[in-house]
Amino acid sequence: MREHSVRRSLQIYERANALIPGTTQLISRRPTRAALGVSPIYAERAKGCRIWDVDGNEYIDWTSAVGPVILGYADEVVDAAVRAQIDRGAIYSIVQESAVELAEELVRIVPSAEMVRYCKGGGEACAIAVRIARGVTGRDKVLFCGYHGWHDWYQAANIGAERLAAHLFNGIEPIGVPRCLEGTARPFTYGDLDELTALLEAHAGELACIIMEPMRSDEPPPGYLERVRELASRHGVVLIFDEVSSGFRLALGSAQEYAGVTPDISVFAKAMSNGYPMGAVVGKREFMAPAAQMFISSAYWDDNIGVAASLATLRELERRDAVGHFQRIGTFFKERVNAAAAAVGLDASCEGVAAHPRIRLGAEDAATAAKVHTLFIQENARRGVILAAGFMFNCAHGEAEVEQTAGVVRESFAVIAEGLERGTLDELLAVPPQEDLFRRLVR
Ligand SMILES: Cc1ncc(COP(=O)(O)O)c(C=O)c1O
Repeated sequence: MREHSVRRSLQIYERANALIPGTTQLISRRPTRAALGVSPIYAERAKGCRIWDVDGNEYIDWTSAVGPVILGYADEVVDAAVRAQIDRGAIYSIVQESAVELAEELVRIVPSAEMVRYCKGGGEACAIAVRIARGVTGRDKVLFCGYHGWHDWYQAANIGAERLAAHLFNGIEPIGVPRCLEGTARPFTYGDLDELTALLEAHAGELACIIMEPMRSDEPPPGYLERVRELASRHGVVLIFDEVSSGFRLALGSAQEYAGVTPDISVFAKAMSNGYPMGAVVGKREFMAPAAQMFISSAYWDDNIGVAASLATLRELERRDAVGHFQRIGTFFKERVNAAAAAVGLDASCEGVAAHPRIRLGAEDAATAAKVHTLFIQENARRGVILAAGFMFNCAHGEAEVEQTAGVVRESFAVIAEGLERGTLDELLAVPPQEDLFRRLVR
């Protein structure tokens, strides 16, 4: 194995620690959540599915910028559209026709879309959707199932008695979220219709919406989303699908097209613009039109760059048959990773829908799991692969990258198997175990 060092990354990280609380803006990008000391921290550039770090190391990257990059880094078609827009002006005192063209495109593609609003990110899009639902119904309470960002309406779920032990990150608390919001956002368990029915009945007349991730890696139980749809309609509650992570991967019309269930409102961000900041709230006219009277307004939401990037991205996803690509590459990836686990006799598997699977690493307890996950990230990074248990495909991932990665994963699995068998995980780890994993309500 070639010499691998991230010395320069670590020097920059030290400077960041003194200046930037948490060092990155997205918690999932914090180096403490990877193999700190071995994983790359600072990138020099990226292209396709590869990243080059400031130490001169090259990696095949399977994280795809934590979701936004769906066509590949520095995609030539999207970037040409962005450059052309830069030459015409990034934002004006007035607006540009392209915003209407993007709305027309979203209405064509997404089943629930009849009207469209824009913003710049996923959490923001969720906050707008919840504001609209509260405004339309005149009710305050929210039932949710998923991860929906950093805003108060959602983080309220982790205050006081409602606090969820199995939710979000350990060590990052709802500090600063107004305590008077306690009880306004309640979680429900994915797949449990009895619990959802009971919550709808217990809070009858108080609920504005059900907001949920329709699915991530696991198929919804048969008939589940259909029943949620029926329950929402019966109780007069707005049904919102958060498609920030599921968008455009399982079907061009996203998880709602894949599952054949149409919500009232849907939110998109991340992959819709291949890395340029953009978010959208789309929905049926009766729910969206009243947004014109609500205070939902921000200067950069009329920016032309995100719109240009999004129009190019959506057109390219269709032209390149991205959905077919994810299905094919995912099937191959699962097969090769599962073969690697079998070859070294490790209790690990790649599971879930082909377009968005995850890697399961068997471990007896939470402390061992943290070590095993960190060792996996560490050994992959040493061999030029950025890959953790959770990952996202992009259109630049090809069979050659799967083959190369499968070879690396096999070696990483062998190291883990040795550590578990001989009880030497601590010696094999060159870094501290990664901080607590992200706890999700939808897997
Ligand atoms: C389903 C879902 N909703 C909302 C968000 C928040 O999006 P952002 O980080 O752009 O605010 C995410 C991000 O991971 C997400 O996966």
